[in-house]
Amino acid sequence: MTEHEADERRTFEPRPIAGEAALRRKVAAQLKALHALKSAALRMFDAMLSAVRAERAASSLAEVEDLLGRMLDAFGGHREETAAHERGLRRRLSELGERPSAPREIGMGLAALARGNLGRIGGQNQGANARDAFVFEHLEIASYELLERLAERAGDLATAELARSARVEDAAMADKIARNWDNVLSLMLASEQIPTNRPDQSPVAETPPAPASS
Ligand SMILES: [Fe+2]
Repeated sequence: MTEHEADERRTFEPRPIAGEAALRRKVAAQLKALHALKSAALRMFDAMLSAVRAERAASSLAEVEDLLGRMLDAFGGHREETAAHERGLRRRLSELGERPSAPREIGMGLAALARGNLGRIGGQNQGANARDAFVFEHLEIASYELLERLAERAGDLATAELARSARVEDAAMADKIARNWDNVLSLMLASEQIPTNRPDQSPVAETPPAPASS
């Protein structure tokens, strides 16, 4: 090899080790960001669930009680999935020799978004809670999509699989909320004692219908 060829090789050969180390640092950073997001989600789920439980106990309206019960089932189930996601992220960080960020190190960004408005009290606010939870699930989905692809590029297949499996559960939760917009709206209306006029029910008439003209 001539000196010129050797120079050219040095210039154009990829540097896999340095590149891979940079990618793995990014994987760790994204794992920490997702861990912070999931930790915030758990705090908000707990606030929301205790508000819904208290409201259900105080409710005297059968429809509101039923709808709040469904909400408790859906969000309570996903709270447990979220707790498992948080543990999985913490375990993976530990396997990589990393630790989760302390809350004060997270800064703005995801944590600020996570604070949102979840956990507001009162049935009339459960619509806003469901809406914000829907947005939050999509934030989680997008974050996991990026982590999965980043981990694949870094050759970290264990992290890629962790991201994929959690994303599937977040997507299922987002789908569940999407299938329940009619119930969410009914809860918002019923908790303010406004007729719900559900599409699958006859509207509640407040005045007798006018006689049909002939
Ligand atoms: Fe989620």
